[in-house]
Amino acid sequence: MKAPLLIPFVTEGDLAERLADGLGAEMGSIHIRRFPDGEAYVRLLSDVSGRRVILTGSLHRPDVVTLPMLYAAATCRELGATQVGLVAPYLAYMRQDKRFQSGEAVTSRHYAALLSRAVDWLVTVDPHLHRYAALSEIYTIPALALHATDAIAGWVRANVKNPLLIGPDAESRQWVAAVAQAAGAPFEVLTKVRHGDHDVEVSVPTAVLAGKTPVLVDDVISTGRTMMAAVTHLAAGGAAPICIGVHGLFESAALEGLKQAGAADVITCNTVAHATNGIDVSTLLVGAVNGLLRSAETQP
Ligand code: R5P
Repeated sequence: MKAPLLIPFVTEGDLAERLADGLGAEMGSIHIRRFPDGEAYVRLLSDVSGRRVILTGSLHRPDVVTLPMLYAAATCRELGATQVGLVAPYLAYMRQDKRFQSGEAVTSRHYAALLSRAVDWLVTVDPHLHRYAALSEIYTIPALALHATDAIAGWVRANVKNPLLIGPDAESRQWVAAVAQAAGAPFEVLTKVRHGDHDVEVSVPTAVLAGKTPVLVDDVISTGRTMMAAVTHLAAGGAAPICIGVHGLFESAALEGLKQAGAADVITCNTVAHATNGIDVSTLLVGAVNGLLRSAETQP
């Protein structure tokens, strides 16, 4: 059987190369561009006939990236790919997991339906599972949610003296508690009230900071306002925390804001390519993808 064909639909960073190396996959290519009126042009530059294709790319800026990815997946199937998997280290549209106000679209469900029709399986890292316990509640294909816990805990152990892990809101408990346990460190979880996209309040940490290095851990850093609110409290107490996000989206000058608020460092996983990437998740992804490829082969 031929090696799988890995086709990156987002070409930032070197995660695709790391995945191809780890999987022993052939690197394929695709041409995606925009017509002057904004429509996407998509052309597969690799022969996908009879091949197991893995499309890969983070779904950050999903409204731009998703449609070309769906066209690519459909074209792979039309041109004879035997399976089409999706490795999306960052999975978008997970936050709207409930109709909070009348008439709102529960976009997590609709996005899941779109992707479930387009590909045979999905692998992602720490999706924002809050009101859903598992991706299988909304995805109808095999959809694996991997955890960057051990990779983050390894980074903390190797780089931080006497860490005190802090989750900035109740939803971050799942990440911060797991990382704290794996790193053998204490943790505290703050409470958050969000008044708007850029207007966030978090509670003041109560743990004793003396002799500790506070390490804030959250799944997503988007505007950075959640982390900034926590950093501001810690800085007022004389601490310079390290901020760790699984997915660094860094909208609205978030990184500069975090530094100005008093963060000593900002570190992210390489699920979304960014200068702050310091924690590699490629080994995690390779293990899961190999398992999915094997199980697809053994299916009748
Ligand atoms: C929400 O609960 C998430 O876990 C993050 O706390 C949130 O996405 C961070 O967003 P921002 O950086 O815009 O405050």
